[in-house]
Amino acid sequence: MTVEVSIDWKKEVLPVGRLHTSERNSATSFEYASEWIKRSDAFAIDPTALPLRAGAHHASSLFGVFQDCGPDRWGRVLIERSVRKGMHPGPLRHDLDYVLALEDNSRVGALRFSHDKAGTFLAHSVGKVPPLLRIGTLLNASNAVHEETETAEDLRYLLDLGSPLGGARPKSAIMLNDGRLAIAKFSKPDDTRDIAAGEILALTLAKKAGVNVAEHQLLSVQRKSVSLITRFDRSGDQRIPFLSGNTLLGLASNDPGAYTLLADGIRQFGDHIEQDLQEMWRRLIFSLLASNYDDHLRNHGFLMFKPGRWALSPAYDLNPVPGTERSRTPETPISEELVAPSIEMALEVASRFALTTTEVKKILKEVYQAISKWQEVGKKLGIKATTLHAYASAFENPFVTEVQKIMRI
Ligand SMILES: Nc1ncnc2c1ncn2[C@@H]1O[C@H](COP(=O)(O)OP(=O)(O)OP(=O)(O)O)[C@@H](O)[C@H]1O
Ligand SMILES: [Mg+2]
Repeated sequence: MTVEVSIDWKKEVLPVGRLHTSERNSATSFEYASEWIKRSDAFAIDPTALPLRAGAHHASSLFGVFQDCGPDRWGRVLIERSVRKGMHPGPLRHDLDYVLALEDNSRVGALRFSHDKAGTFLAHSVGKVPPLLRIGTLLNASNAVHEETETAEDLRYLLDLGSPLGGARPKSAIMLNDGRLAIAKFSKPDDTRDIAAGEILALTLAKKAGVNVAEHQLLSVQRKSVSLITRFDRSGDQRIPFLSGNTLLGLASNDPGAYTLLADGIRQFGDHIEQDLQEMWRRLIFSLLASNYDDHLRNHGFLMFKPGRWALSPAYDLNPVPGTERSRTPETPISEELVAPSIEMALEVASRFALTTTEVKKILKEVYQAISKWQEVGKKLGIKATTLHAYASAFENPFVTEVQKIMRI
């Protein structure tokens, strides 16, 4: 299959290149359009795998930048169910088939796809992103998918109108009352704790700790928590190019990478380099102190405001994991070395994040102080005492004790 790739850039939709997938295997090739390369403000849409030059780029799987605007586990389930119900043509042979099944209007980032240059963008929007007041319908549809009782109407709602975006958790695109695009993240019937409450608590604490976080709010819908996250890849009706940490570094989705590698990526392709390096280290400390262990490279994002320079996106998908459930280590290691994560280890690599000893101490203190207020902040958010109790061990953990020792608190 061959598709034309365009990009929304500074209020224009510009042809950027042509993507080809093999009928035989998962191989992919991409070639920049000559009219794109000629532009004085042209940039590489994927700086590591697709540097800006004439001629074809080849890879054995779909380039990261295209995966980043496609579905993950949750979206794939919806797409496969709708093929089974005959609502989507199928077959689903290549990762690109899944990307193209997502609705164009709410697709993450600024890329758009069409079969030919004058064609409609895929997947063609059959309606509008659901408004906030339809959140109950979306939640019911999402529950039906888990119970495998979903109707064609449920799938139409979740897939064609509320795009599933990436990620494994059930979610939908949704339109806020002020017209901004957001993501509603739902609970699953088999969740053992209130994940949405944990996420909003973590985002609130991260903001208090000086981290730049996505705008967020906690809703209660049919007595279930829903986290509502405002989209940062839109500004009015403009789309902002987005890349995951995996793609910036050119790493496969199962490669854990390392925070120090993200620092190298920021040094090479960053926008406000020093500021983002320091912010990344602050996020590392926050993740350790809040047991945010789901910090894989897809949960680190970058946005482009200036051609070719990738700025750290606001932090998203922060999830405190109680001690009883925690896997042994965070998903993104601190450095390339095979050493157990610790605050000491984070301090050792701080110079790679453009930090002086004084700045390091200041960040440690600020993050520690914010985390220590977890109960008070949780109560203010209206989170139930039993839920807060379930999260206690996430915020009172060995890394917190280590900071207390280092700072002599
Ligand atoms: N505020 C946002 N604005 C734009 N894109 C976002 C935003 N938040 C998340 N995304 C994109 O949507 C994807 C899915 O969101 P998120 O990571 O919150 O979902 P998840 O299902 O919890 O993920 P995971 O599989 O990591 O548990 C992200 O990987 C990112 O690409
Ligand atoms: Mg995620």
